[in-house]
Amino acid sequence: MPAMVMSNAGPGGAKKFEGRITIYVVICGIIAATGGLMFGYDIGISGGVTSMDDFLEEFFPVVYERKHKAKEDNYCKFDNQNLQLFTSSLYLAALVASFVASKICTKHGRRLTMQAASVFFLVGVILNAAAVNIAMLIIGRILLGVGVGFANQAVPLFLSEIAPVHLRGALNILFQLDVTIGIFVANIVNYLVSNIHPWGWRLALGLAGVPATMLCLGSMVIAETPTSLIEREMLMEGLAMLKKIRGTDNVDTEYEEILHACEMARQVKQPFKNLMKRSSRPQLVIAIVMQVFQQFTGINAIMFYAPVLFQTIGFKNDASLLSAVITGIVNVLSTVVSVVLVDKVGRRFLLLEACGQMLITQVAIGGILLVNLKATNDLGHGVAVWVVVLVCLFVSSFAWSWGPLGWLIPSETFPLATRTAGYAFAVSSNMLFTFVIAQAFLSMMCHLRAGIFFFFGAWIVMMGLFVIFLLPETKNVPIDEMTEKVWKQHWFWKRFMDEEDDKKYSV
Ligand code: BGC
Repeated sequence: MPAMVMSNAGPGGAKKFEGRITIYVVICGIIAATGGLMFGYDIGISGGVTSMDDFLEEFFPVVYERKHKAKEDNYCKFDNQNLQLFTSSLYLAALVASFVASKICTKHGRRLTMQAASVFFLVGVILNAAAVNIAMLIIGRILLGVGVGFANQAVPLFLSEIAPVHLRGALNILFQLDVTIGIFVANIVNYLVSNIHPWGWRLALGLAGVPATMLCLGSMVIAETPTSLIEREMLMEGLAMLKKIRGTDNVDTEYEEILHACEMARQVKQPFKNLMKRSSRPQLVIAIVMQVFQQFTGINAIMFYAPVLFQTIGFKNDASLLSAVITGIVNVLSTVVSVVLVDKVGRRFLLLEACGQMLITQVAIGGILLVNLKATNDLGHGVAVWVVVLVCLFVSSFAWSWGPLGWLIPSETFPLATRTAGYAFAVSSNMLFTFVIAQAFLSMMCHLRAGIFFFFGAWIVMMGLFVIFLLPETKNVPIDEMTEKVWKQHWFWKRFMDEEDDKKYSV
């Protein structure tokens, strides 16, 4: 039955669109899910593989030796630049690739970009699973990174464009949900293959081919988004596709609006230059800062290195991978909480609650390790269980706040003219700071020791202050009324919203 839904997309206020959730949109959601799974599986698998003995012995014998020396310093046994490069090279490649992908997305469409993503990813998987030297491993990781960069640019865009207006927010967080499912599946795979000697790690890396194959095949079944077709001047095809995904012929209002949006987008010849205007400052700062803060919660120290981290604090191989499986499931379930709550309690509430919970847990973990873990002992069983509980509490608060909102808020605060360029900025900032944390964490743990948790704790204090003073609430504010209702009303950001100033200060 067709449902009338409110659109907030028109410059003149709310309009009515007609449309319902069609099977076609559901299939497209599943396609997007596989893009998220690819990204998430990768986040989860690298930490597991880099703590497997067979893998270390073959590629990183120095780390393997150190790990098995009884007297080796607990905090430093995994500190190895090449090992970190294995994890972090993917993010550097994704950072560069996302700029290329944004161009391909505009010129050749979202569908082709997704297909390219899956092909790069598959070649990377083959190189990794068959690797006989570090070069094959790293080149494989770089190709996986290109795949991730392409997919992360195209999939969320694709989802937003096909989603009925009233489901756009929920679909946005669904992408993050799929990322967490990918991480969780990877943790289970890590756990299961760790006892398959000597090639379990090859299986773990090779299984990344499953979500990539799903994306490759899936993106052949689906067609292009109406927006991309209309943007590339295929008006008739765009209109036909819009009718198909909405399940009704009555799509004139939405069609007009897409035409209007494409027209406006065409007028902005250099969206990135437009972003440098004074009036774009608030959204740009928030998009970047949300991503920097998301990474400086320390989440990926846990996501990439959970098994390594748990081994560092004295768990045996199996126990540490099992603990990572537990944190993986907490991550998935807590993301569902966010889907349910985000439009009810608001963004600021979730972010602030999480700051409190994350601060307490980080400080508690740091304190426990400071007192109980010296350079060469193991944590007692009881204490280690407490650490796992605290890590779960930390992960859950991240998963209903900074995880999904780090992506959602930048996607809803930009005006149309700078929205895609601004969002690309957010994506690349995420990749950059993910890279920084991935590359630095094991060395930081070696040098800062338990202090690493206080380091992240200090960031969390800053994040809380930022939310209290500088992050406006965007819940229930129509996306095209953000400037009037949010930025022009905010005690601090309103000083940037004077259009005359744009002329005076523009670069
Ligand atoms: C972050 C990733 C992180 C994941 C954890 C995402 O929002 O961007 O860096 O690993 O959440 O679930």
